Amino acid sequence: MARCLVTRALPGEALDRLRGRHEVEVWPGELPVEREWLMRRIGEVEGLLCMLSDRIDAELISAAPRLRVISNYAVGTDNVDLGAAAARGVGVGRTPDVLTDATADLTMALLLAVARHLPEAQRAAREGRWRTWEPSGWLGLELRGAVLAVIGAGRIGSAVGERARAFGMQVRLLGRGFDLRAELAQADVVSLHVPQTPETYRLVDEAALKAMKPSAILINTGRGGLVDQVALRRALQEGWIAGAGLDVTDPEPLPVEDPLFQAPNLIVLPHIGSATRAAREAMAQRAVENLIAGLAGQALPYPAPPLAPAG
Ligand code: GLV
Ligand code: GLV
Repeated sequence: MARCLVTRALPGEALDRLRGRHEVEVWPGELPVEREWLMRRIGEVEGLLCMLSDRIDAELISAAPRLRVISNYAVGTDNVDLGAAAARGVGVGRTPDVLTDATADLTMALLLAVARHLPEAQRAAREGRWRTWEPSGWLGLELRGAVLAVIGAGRIGSAVGERARAFGMQVRLLGRGFDLRAELAQADVVSLHVPQTPETYRLVDEAALKAMKPSAILINTGRGGLVDQVALRRALQEGWIAGAGLDVTDPEPLPVEDPLFQAPNLIVLPHIGSATRAAREAMAQRAVENLIAGLAGQALPYPAPPLAPAG
């Protein structure tokens, strides 16, 4: 029996399974775990099940001499200092595959909503601005024939490509070794599906946005740090691109007073890509499987990807 901390109550039955085997303490709040609460307890525990909104850094890891496994309740692991964990021999787990469809669906929902101006159209209908059927009103992008650049050819990117092909889009699934600028220049929609790393941080910067077509749409359901948000605000205000849909921002939550919210043709969602009951329950199962395996001294079934070699 080991001691574990869980930084948020999870949907489904998975935590009951964990409680059947180990001593489990769950942060009781509805906001992210307080650092101080975590720091006070982390020295005593062997296992940590944490959220993508928790910063698991070198300071926290070095305050945890007994820690053997960090199980992140997410597919991304950019919130965890993987180097610090590896240096201490602490395994890091994540929850791939089970959220792929949910996230790909949400990506299409955002794409369609931006392409067809759903938020503004809905506002017009509710606010008395629906005067008649408008032959030239609300004209948006037709998906059939449009070129979709999927940046990142992993599970989620591929699943987005599969859906987009069913809509008749010309999908360019971009893994490694492509000319980003050239792809951006010919895309009608650009969708981001790479992990956030030092190499991909602000991949979409001012130059990238300027390389896009003025009619193009940017969708980000990956991580907020992939996009330079100051440049994005200018891009939308000055018409370098036509619209954007973000399920992720930097920081999260994006403060309501952030000037990005003033930009036109922008949808911001509160990081709900994996938010289906099925995905979140299956993620909880995977997170618990990782924790149980790590505490038993076994290889994690769903480990974080290996660290890229330095340099
Ligand atoms: C969601 O963003 C995840 O990484 O699971
Ligand atoms: C994540 O699951 C990805 O590979 O896109």
